Amino acid sequence: MAETAEKFNTAMAGWQEWQDAPWGRLRYVIAEANLARHLADLPAGPLRILDVAGGNGADAVRLAARGHHVTIVDHAHAMLDAAGERAQAEGLADRITCVQAGVDRLPAEVTSTQFDVVLCHNLIQYTDDARQTLAAALAPLRPGGLLSVISANRHSASLTAAIREMDLAAALAALDTDRGRTRMFDAQLRLRTAEEIQPMLEELGCRDVHHYGIRSVCDYITDDARKHDPKFYADLERLELAVTARHPHKHTARFFQLIARTCRTATACRAVRRGGS
Ligand SMILES: C[S@@+](CC[C@H](N)C(=O)[O-])C[C@H]1O[C@@H](n2cnc3c(N)ncnc32)[C@H](O)[C@@H]1O
Repeated sequence: MAETAEKFNTAMAGWQEWQDAPWGRLRYVIAEANLARHLADLPAGPLRILDVAGGNGADAVRLAARGHHVTIVDHAHAMLDAAGERAQAEGLADRITCVQAGVDRLPAEVTSTQFDVVLCHNLIQYTDDARQTLAAALAPLRPGGLLSVISANRHSASLTAAIREMDLAAALAALDTDRGRTRMFDAQLRLRTAEEIQPMLEELGCRDVHHYGIRSVCDYITDDARKHDPKFYADLERLELAVTARHPHKHTARFFQLIARTCRTATACRAVRRGGS
């Protein structure tokens, strides 16, 4: 099912519009806040961050603005061109490197670096084998480094169909499938859950896995126009930040985010990965 780069190249205008919309902004604000809690546990100073399938750099620019060095890998040239333009416009070009590659073929310039942090945000819903994708993303992460994974949450599919689309037949069908579609990229999705991905991460040598929800509330408010009102948006953002780590809200959020540390030593990581493969 791996989606071609062309689908992502041709959807730039819609993608940027989505990112600027209140629901797009929330995705990045909440992810950044969750990550910030864990970055505080790493040594101070500029970190080397790898953003796998980093698209047009929306996460990367935020991190570079905090002083970190970010390498964005993506297979879509239009995404990387937009990331480069964005980095230039924000005066961050010296902290952002763009590399065109598929996640399954990371080039030596990436695999030979030991990154402190790896982001794998909204990629695994486009790949058939999440474990293989995560293993590839984890390979350049240094022992004790931090991994952040975001993906579309299967638990939200049925609720979204029922509440937003009032399509109860679709809601019923969504209960028993892990397949979805995105109109944005005209692509098939594999919908997963945090409960499914967490053990995979542990098998791959991750520990201290923290589970957050992104857009736990936003998507269940059907009045989208209201979300453009600055006061309403500010209240919504405050509420989302308050519930991101809370049970039960995080379980039905539109996206799940898992943040984990890798084993402390390279030997321990290798042993766990050998055992789990
Ligand atoms: C929904 S966008 C997410 C971009 C970014 N991570 C974010 O959250 O803003 C998905 C990105 O994954 C990239 N992508 C999908 N499959 C890929 C693959 N196999 N290798 C590299 N990039 C891939 C696409 O080109 C696209 O930029």
